[in-house]
Amino acid sequence: MARNPLIAGNWKMHKSERQAEEYIQALLPRVAALEGVGVAICAPYTDLKALADSARGSRVEVYAQNMHQEDQGAYTGEVSAPMLSEAGVQGVVLGHSERRAQFGESDHALALKVPAALRAGLTPLLCVGESEQERDAGDTERRLRQQIAEDLGGVAAEQLSELVIAYEPVWAIGTGRVASPEQAQEAIAFIRALLAARDERAAQQVRILYGGSVDPDNAAGLLELPDIDGALVGGASLQVDSFARIVAAARR
Ligand code: PGA
Repeated sequence: MARNPLIAGNWKMHKSERQAEEYIQALLPRVAALEGVGVAICAPYTDLKALADSARGSRVEVYAQNMHQEDQGAYTGEVSAPMLSEAGVQGVVLGHSERRAQFGESDHALALKVPAALRAGLTPLLCVGESEQERDAGDTERRLRQQIAEDLGGVAAEQLSELVIAYEPVWAIGTGRVASPEQAQEAIAFIRALLAARDERAAQQVRILYGGSVDPDNAAGLLELPDIDGALVGGASLQVDSFARIVAAARR
């Protein structure tokens, strides 16, 4: 089954609203002709409304980088899925390794966040992946199995196809140590098999991206593999030119 590739740029805590606006105006003409490739910008909260307004009607979708699992309540400093949806946002990154490691994001919270995003009409982009220690100990599959089981525990089998999953080995994020295409392919095929055990059809439809030190030079070698449906790009998404080149490399 053909799955359209998705290239998502994760800006992390970079770019003010003014910088975001300049970026999107430069990006839109660069990606307009790339039929069949989905593009998402995952931006800080303060950029989302302006980006969504500028990208409306284009192939570029706007994603947040986190959200709270409740729709509203006494949760100072948090933002909910319906709030993002009303701002024109189409999706949300959940469970990024920086949030897991630095902000205590738990699998328990993710099990609530993923269905909350779906209820609000947002595409959850769930990040999973093993640490270097886990890889060295031969624990990669155990870790992936645990994250997929716990984080997606609240999602009905037939809804799995509405998700995007990013396989991001923690040791490859921001380090310049990209996984080899074979390593990425193997882990992604494993994740797809885990999903297939719940729902064969949904597993064939869900897009599974690779993330971790993707750049314009290594993108094509990863994206040409049949199981790798796109990329979640951090550092190389901050410049329009390098991000647009990665989007172009996804064209099948
Ligand atoms: P990187 O980040 O491309 O800078 O390694 C990827 C990510 O954190 O999603």
